[in-house]
Order: sequence, then C-alpha cells, then structure tokens
Amino acid sequence: MATILDGKAHADRMLEEVRLRVEARAAAGQRLPGLAVVLVGEDPASQVYVRNKATACARVGVHSFEHRLPADTPQAVLDALIDRLNADPTVDGILVQLPLPGGLDSKRALHRISPAKDVDGFHPMNQGLLLEGLPGLRPCTPTACMSLLAHHGLALKGLRAVVLGRSEIVGKPMALMLLEQHATVTIAHSRTQDLPAVCREADLLVAAVGRPGLVEGSWIRPGAVVLDVGINRVQDLDLGARIFAAEPTKLANLQAKGAVLCGDVRFGEAMRVASAVTPVPGGVGPLTIAGLLTNTLWAAEQAEA
Ligand code: GUN
Repeated sequence: MATILDGKAHADRMLEEVRLRVEARAAAGQRLPGLAVVLVGEDPASQVYVRNKATACARVGVHSFEHRLPADTPQAVLDALIDRLNADPTVDGILVQLPLPGGLDSKRALHRISPAKDVDGFHPMNQGLLLEGLPGLRPCTPTACMSLLAHHGLALKGLRAVVLGRSEIVGKPMALMLLEQHATVTIAHSRTQDLPAVCREADLLVAAVGRPGLVEGSWIRPGAVVLDVGINRVQDLDLGARIFAAEPTKLANLQAKGAVLCGDVRFGEAMRVASAVTPVPGGVGPLTIAGLLTNTLWAAEQAEA
C-alpha cells in the first residue's frame, strides 16, 4: 500500500512558518501583511474559498480585506477597485477570485493587478520571471506542491514527471517548476494520444485536469508518486460505482449523501500501485491557501526590501 501524503499536515507546517515570520515582523515594529480578496457575484464555491482564506489570514496574523461586488459589476468599476488596491500601502497581495461572472474579462482584471501584489502569480510579468527561473510571485498550488515534495525528500533530478493538464493556474507553472529542479517533464492533456501509456512513464504524476477519477490504477507506474490536484464533486451514482470500485466507503458515502469530493485520480486503485498518493480531500487542496499566505508574506517583505 502507498503512503498517504498528508497535504493538510504540510499546509499546517507552511502556515506555522508564516505565522512565526509575521510575529517576528510585528515584534520588530513592522506592520502586518495585508491580503485583499475581491469576490464578484455569488458563486457558492467561490464564497467557500473566500471564507477559508479569511480564516487562514486570521490564523497567521495577516490582515484580510474583503471586497464583494455584485455579479453585474461593470468592468470599469472592477478596474477602479484594482487601481485603488494597487495604490494602497496596507495591501500587499490582491486576489481576484475566479471565475468572474460572464461579461467580465478575467485576463484584463488579472493583468491590471500590480505584479508586486499579484499573489496568485498569474500576471504575465510573474509568469515571465518563472519562465526565466528568477524570483517572483509564483502560482500558489504548484508552489505548495513543490514544497510538499521537498518536505518528503523526493529527489526530482532526472526524474520522469508527467503533468496531466495545461492550465495557467497549475499545469504549465508546475511543469516549469519541476523542470527548474531538473526533472524530465512531459505535459499531457485531453488531446494527448494514448494518455494511459504516457502516464505510465511517470515516476511522478501530477493530475490537474478536473475530471473525476480519470486516472485509473493501470495508468500508474508501480512505485510512482502521485499528486492529485483535482477537486471534483461527484453526484452521479453510475460514475461513482465505476470510479470508487476500490473505495467502498466513498461509494457508500455517495449513496448516503448524494455527493462526494473526488480527485482526478482513482484513489483506491492508486493506493495499490503507487508509492505515495495525495488524498482528496486533505491533499493538495489545503496547500493552495498555505501557498497564498506564503506569497502574501513574501510580497510584504519585498515591499520593504
Ligand atoms: N478560483 C479557484 N482557484 C483559484 C485560484 O487559485 N486563484 C483565484 N484567484 N481564483 C481561483
């Protein structure tokens, strides 16, 4: 059986490190870092994320500023808010919660955030710095995944890594960070021919496509390390019966509650083949917020450097 990589425990370690550094800043008379979160509209998942962010901020001593705008907010109003936050010296990090309601241009909003406050690491300036291997604000989920791998002592040099998914939030930056650590990296996606065979090449498989249970046990090389970035809500009993064949408890939960969370990987099957696997929930999910607060602290430190 594989080891379960406990993302929650690692997120707690990362958050504790942020808390101690914030405390040391306060003791030295420096102000607390500030994170502004902009939520447009009423998307229920986004509301949960935003609440979790505020809780994590309180835990580590980071000021949290929430800006809620109605779903029909004009782009010019969102632009003006971003401009105001860019100019506010008490705000070190700005996060515009995605997805934005239809009618708003997310790229335009993300590009308007000052690169120095872009704690999501989505601004082209920060993407370019990552591409060049230079310090900058880097996307939270892949940053925290790299931290988890480092904590568990996985030697990445020369390792064959397959990143399944090519998003700008996870897939592309994850591939660049693995490459920076000298892994041999393949980016695979929905159009890749013979996806199972490509995944089987991987000593490290990172699944980030948002398709519940896509990765079967037979796609995994024996002894591989598997990071499951997907967080999917499964409600369909037929789908559940297929993807939870090796997880009877999860299937029973689906039958009892009508919905369960599931990663992109069939966890029960992966546990029988891999050497280490992140679970869903409790794997990569909690790491993202830890990455965000690490970035916010870094932005605050840079602002004074
Ligand atoms: N919505 C879901 N994940 C994210 C994220 O990492 N950043 C932002 N801004 N919005 C998201």
